[in-house]
Amino acid sequence: MIDKRTVPADHVVTRDKIPHPLSSPTIETALPVNEPCAVVLRPARLAEARAMAEMSRDLIESGLGWRYTPERMATLIRDTETTAVVACDGPRLHGFAAMHFGDEKAHLLLLCVQPPQQRRGIGRSLTNWLLDSARVAGIITIALELRADNPAAQAFYRRLGFIETQLVPGYYSGHVAARRMQMPLGPPAAGTQPGLR
Ligand SMILES: CC(C)(COP(=O)(O)OP(=O)(O)OC[C@H]1O[C@@H](n2cnc3c(N)ncnc32)[C@H](O)[C@@H]1OP(=O)(O)O)[C@@H](O)C(=O)NCCC(=O)NCCS
Repeated sequence: MIDKRTVPADHVVTRDKIPHPLSSPTIETALPVNEPCAVVLRPARLAEARAMAEMSRDLIESGLGWRYTPERMATLIRDTETTAVVACDGPRLHGFAAMHFGDEKAHLLLLCVQPPQQRRGIGRSLTNWLLDSARVAGIITIALELRADNPAAQAFYRRLGFIETQLVPGYYSGHVAARRMQMPLGPPAAGTQPGLR
């Protein structure tokens, strides 16, 4: 299980200082786990666009057609209004998440963890990393869509505090329904700093 760690001071950002993979210094949060490897969370690098796109294709977009191609993923990584964070162990990419930041609302676009690494707290840590950035950026609401045929992800998001708001038939490729979920983003609990669990 991943230990609670305080996000380094560099990770505390304002909206116009959301950590950007290309412009920010490397911000790494080591997550010692009960195995010989150490999982690290850090902003995604352009060189990781293909691996991230392939994870999206296989774990998120299966059966829908490949929309988050390597080119589109690279665009997301470069986008100053989007933050993409990866969880890795050396060269091995265990998971990633990407969130688009609006003025008061942020949208969790993508989140996935490699199957052998699931249920180790990586998905929660990636999400919390982005939620901490969003809190500091003054975001009030986090929104997301997920496939209605993905009850595991629905259970995951519910566990993190997201609430289902809408079912949208045919949202994905005209034939797979989406569930919209939201979470109001309160301030960090008193006496705590932004951090991972
Ligand atoms: C959804 C996903 C990101 C979760 O990542 P993860 O690292 O396995 O999740 P965590 O270990 O952080 O889980 C946190 C909590 O969420 C819940 N949860 C996670 N996976 C679950 C599952 N398959 N079934 C039920 N609850 C689940 C549990 O309460 C879990 O806590 P616990 O392990 O202490 O019981 C991962 O399963 C995944 O990548 N799935 C394929 C892609 C996908 O569906 N992405 C989301 C939609 S875009």
